[in-house]
Amino acid sequence: MTKVSLPVASMILIGTILMMNTSIADVSVARQTELVYLLRQDCGSCHGMTLRGGLGPALLPELLIGKSEQFLSTTILEGRPGTAMPAWKGMLNKADASWLAHQLQRGVQ
Ligand code: HEC
Repeated sequence: MTKVSLPVASMILIGTILMMNTSIADVSVARQTELVYLLRQDCGSCHGMTLRGGLGPALLPELLIGKSEQFLSTTILEGRPGTAMPAWKGMLNKADASWLAHQLQRGVQ
């Protein structure tokens, strides 16, 4: 045991907690597959199968510049009252919505 081990250990612990808090780490690979399917089918019914827009606006990365992941995931969870954008919080949790927002920002393949 050296004297540095405690601070180092607590830094690793804090780092791990912070990482666990980032929603992206909370979404399993199986759930990611489901979410991409949902994005194409359900979200695609308004935003277009290729997310280039329809009844809802296009959700392409270049159009989402300047909009935070938080703002986009809140839109997904709560919807936009007074518009056709429904709330998805009945089907999606926060981690799902953040993951989807993140995918939209980086461009869904
Ligand atoms: C019934 C149609 C409909 C469905 C289904 C739908 N949306 Fe939307 N969505 C809209 C409309 C309309 C808007 C624009 C709202 C406005 O005018 O502010 C919108 C806006 C958004 C925005 C904000 C875009 C921006 O540039 O600020 C995001 C993100 C979004 N939708 C994601 C999704 C996701 C993810 C799903 C599927 C889980 C989904 N939407 C399903 C109609 C829909």
